[in-house]
Amino acid sequence: MSTSLAWDERYQGGGFQFGDAPNEYLRAQSWRFRPGMRALVPGDGEGRNGVWLAQKNLKVTTLDWSPVGVAKAKTLAEERGVTLDAQVADAAAWTYPEAGFDLVAWIFLHLPPEDRAAACRGCVRALAPGGLLVLECFTPAQEGRRSGGPKQRDLLWDRAIVEREFATLEVLELTEGAVRLDEGPRHQGLAEVVRAVLRKG
Ligand SMILES: C[S@@+](CC[C@H](N)C(=O)[O-])C[C@H]1O[C@@H](n2cnc3c(N)ncnc32)[C@H](O)[C@@H]1O
Repeated sequence: MSTSLAWDERYQGGGFQFGDAPNEYLRAQSWRFRPGMRALVPGDGEGRNGVWLAQKNLKVTTLDWSPVGVAKAKTLAEERGVTLDAQVADAAAWTYPEAGFDLVAWIFLHLPPEDRAAACRGCVRALAPGGLLVLECFTPAQEGRRSGGPKQRDLLWDRAIVEREFATLEVLELTEGAVRLDEGPRHQGLAEVVRAVLRKG
């Protein structure tokens, strides 16, 4: 079972479990981002994605239930000369501000179904009209691979889950398949993922 304490243990010590460079899929969407956009990064861990978005002059709220991860995100932001609104919180229980964000970057956040549904509802509520949601998560085809992802099957995503959880959002991109990950020690090699860009009407 994944807990915030288990994540704290993984994040103790030096180095970055998923590297300190942004996720490649998020980076590939950067042409959609504009300075001043308000971005929420739930499950941002050690902050590689939130800090990178802040470096692109977005106003970033980084959120993770691991205090150790959030502290590392704040330190990384300081080192890079940017600021973050850093929240230590459970993504399933956070109070998502209505229309408070123009971008949600949901990268490798895998939650039990009920928590996932609550967090997805929150993210949809938190998107302003025209706001974007960018997502990359592991699919069940990842089971047995050593390139990352949760062991519990019900935490995994697929196309159908994206379509269901975000049924009210417009699909701009939605793909499922194999990619090669090169993200720190924990995400290395061929991996099975779902990737999406969605927009609130
Ligand atoms: C696989 S890591 C990915 C971290 C980051 N998104 C990245 O790609 O570098 C998953 C992250 O989700 C966080 N997480 C898991 N469940 C959470 C929850 N209920 N609320 C907030 N964060 C959670 C973990 O603490 C961990 O930092």
